[in-house]
Amino acid sequence: ALISLRQLLDHAAEHNYGVPAFNVNNLEQMRAIMEAADKTDSPVIVQASAGARKYAGAPFLRHMILAAIEEFPHIPVCMHQDHGTSPAVCQRSIQLGFSSVMMDGSLKEDGKTPADYDYNVKVTQQAVAMAHACGVSVEGELGCLGSLETGDAGEEDGIGADCKLTHEQMLTDPEEAAEFVRATKVDALAIACGTSHGAYKFTRPPTGDILAIDRIKAIHARIPNTHLVMHGSSSVPQEWLKIINEFGGAIPETYGVPIEQICEGIKYGVRKVNIDTDLRLSSTGAVRKFLAENPKEFDPRKFLAKTTEAMRDICIDRYQAFGTAGQA
Ligand code: G3H
Ligand code: 13P
Ligand code: NA
Ligand code: ZN
Repeated sequence: ALISLRQLLDHAAEHNYGVPAFNVNNLEQMRAIMEAADKTDSPVIVQASAGARKYAGAPFLRHMILAAIEEFPHIPVCMHQDHGTSPAVCQRSIQLGFSSVMMDGSLKEDGKTPADYDYNVKVTQQAVAMAHACGVSVEGELGCLGSLETGDAGEEDGIGADCKLTHEQMLTDPEEAAEFVRATKVDALAIACGTSHGAYKFTRPPTGDILAIDRIKAIHARIPNTHLVMHGSSSVPQEWLKIINEFGGAIPETYGVPIEQICEGIKYGVRKVNIDTDLRLSSTGAVRKFLAENPKEFDPRKFLAKTTEAMRDICIDRYQAFGTAGQA
């Protein structure tokens, strides 16, 4: 059944678990997410970015998610729009039947330039007014995602600042978060706490508290009824990097967010955990390996089935690690 983000995360907060929000662009990702949820009895958040709409087309995306709900009627599914860059984008998603939208007013409409606080409040208020009138949840964002190590925003072509960020910009301020939530009435808030989008998060193996866990605690203490969202939460599995590079890839040494750090965040109020890169890496690895080992094969179903399998295993791992398993 289709449920809103508010309904799903209220349950997660009550029962102290987190929910991975996986990006979806194609049939294989959709199947992987749903089969993993079915196997582990987990509720689902599937999210579609502007890039996904451009790739698959809005009607295909919408019907793919509806098909998932039809095939797995016992699994609660939240259909979420990732990184909306304007109230108009959110309105279109509401029309399409999404049960939740993200209004990312931390960046201007280009999705690249950090926006000021007043702009963020204004566009988020507009999105909330529309969405709440339709029973749709809203995720806002305050702060700029970037590597505390380098000040880089991560993503080259996706959503993210295209300038060096200061330490201050990369950590959401708890007081400002409280004021923002009071002014906008968002259901969930994406915070900046040391993660960044994409595969290149850390150049050395992360140890200890690589995320600003104390900052998460402080924000949660100020806005206990607003669900915190951690973007840029891929763990960048080293075993998949190895497979990619063993079979013709050339991805430089890089590290993601350790699962234990995400679990620390969940302990202190993080409820939605955004993951895209890990599914991209595992499906690329699976294709490279299959085609290298089976040079005579040309049926796309053969290698695409391998991507589904690889992504499904990642989803199962995350549902289990975040405590989502058994909560459907
Ligand atoms: O936050 C960005 C997500 O990973 C979606 O990426 O815009 O390339 O679809 P995309
Ligand atoms: P990753 O790039 O770490 O997978 O993060 C995805 C994300 O935050 C989508 O909004
Ligand atoms: Na941001
Ligand atoms: Zn994101």
